[in-house]
Amino acid sequence: MEPKCILLLLLYFSTVAKSAYNVVDFGAKPDGRTDSTNAFLAAWAEACGDQNPATMVVPSGPFLVGRALFQGPCKNNKLGLIIKGTILGKTGYSDASEWITFKYVKGLSIYGGTFNARGQWLWACKAAGRNCPNGSTALTISQAKNVLLSKVKIQNSQNFQIAIIFSQEIKVEGATITAPGNSPNTDGIHIHMSSFITIIGSAMATGDDCISLGEGVSNAWIENIKCGPGHGISIGSLGDGTETTMVQNVTVSSVVFRGTQNGFRVKTWATPSSKGFVRGVTFQHGTMKNVGNPIMIDQNYCPVPGNCPNESSGIKISKVTFSDVHGTSSTQVAVNLDCSKSNPCQGIQLTNIKLSYKRKNHELAKSFCRNVKGKNSGFVVLLVAFDMGQENYVKIF
Ligand SMILES: *[C@@H]1O[C@H](CO)[C@@H](O)[C@H](O)[C@H]1NC(C)=O
Ligand SMILES: *[C@@H]1O[C@H](CO)[C@@H](O)[C@H](O)[C@H]1NC(C)=O
Ligand SMILES: *[C@@H]1O[C@H](CO)[C@@H](O)[C@H](O)[C@H]1NC(C)=O
Repeated sequence: MEPKCILLLLLYFSTVAKSAYNVVDFGAKPDGRTDSTNAFLAAWAEACGDQNPATMVVPSGPFLVGRALFQGPCKNNKLGLIIKGTILGKTGYSDASEWITFKYVKGLSIYGGTFNARGQWLWACKAAGRNCPNGSTALTISQAKNVLLSKVKIQNSQNFQIAIIFSQEIKVEGATITAPGNSPNTDGIHIHMSSFITIIGSAMATGDDCISLGEGVSNAWIENIKCGPGHGISIGSLGDGTETTMVQNVTVSSVVFRGTQNGFRVKTWATPSSKGFVRGVTFQHGTMKNVGNPIMIDQNYCPVPGNCPNESSGIKISKVTFSDVHGTSSTQVAVNLDCSKSNPCQGIQLTNIKLSYKRKNHELAKSFCRNVKGKNSGFVVLLVAFDMGQENYVKIF
């Protein structure tokens, strides 16, 4: 290499190094025991306060970090967080509802890192019915804009694994999220009051929904997801109070569900006082492997029986398409569309559905429909797995 080039390279690296803030330089210890929370916050303060693009670096090794709020607004809008190691949560009692939070930031890219919340003690506490804290969300993106989470791993959260709330232009790619199938409320990614959200190429194993979209979510694109164990990909539950809810323009594409409780689902509480709508949702290219409710709209969601006396949701569901959904259902009702009596679903479309019910006694898979207006196009086939010769073309509407 020419000396000139080497000089340029050196110059380049020294500029990069100047704006890289390594948590170890702020006192963090990669021993998994020393509380490194303040060191992480100090490194963040420097990176966030830098006028130029800056990077916070977490090298390899386990770091013990407690409740940490990484707050903006920052002085630059090109902030990187490169995580090589594992960040371990504390296992003692805490009332905090969030563990790691990025709030009021614009222009942040997080690369890599394993966030292990070690929530086992809390699940055990809840399972024993003792007096336990609610638990905290492992990673929260709040009131933020233009944030990328790339190849992040979240493990054993006490509660939601990732929450995206009151934010815009958030992209999650290549995430790996893992919690046991019986861990309570460990939704993989929960989205609330946010728009222009992209989740691609990610895998989730959880004790609740792999992805749940709550109130006020619009313009969401979810693609190439592996889900299971878990409760599927859900819009909802919506409308458990008197608030007005709006969910629109959501696409969920190319999902493999394995042994999940549900596949593609929209769920609203049976409370007439709730208002609002779900409109413009496409669920497409779903592969169901032994899934409880592969296709489901449930407007009669009432977790505590008897708590929803007037069984009719005030939320209007329209323009929802299920297209190219195939595989096996673990329950006989493979397509379950149960809409509100006072607000029937409209514009529901089923296209190219082929689902079979895995039972030896040759019972056909079934559909259930109530208060639904829509159409079938392409084919809708519900059949038995062990008698593929007898395809049962059904007209659902
Ligand atoms: C736990 O959650 C309940 C229900 O949302 C709430 O009323 C309560 O204040 C929470 N407790 C703590 C300690 O945050
Ligand atoms: C729907 O959402 C996608 C992103 O998910 C966006 O590209 C598109 O512009 C949105 N459409 C409308 C009409 O807002
Ligand atoms: C049930 O809901 C309907 C429509 O919202 C309303 O007219 C009716 O009064 C309600 N009945 C009860 C018992 O709350």
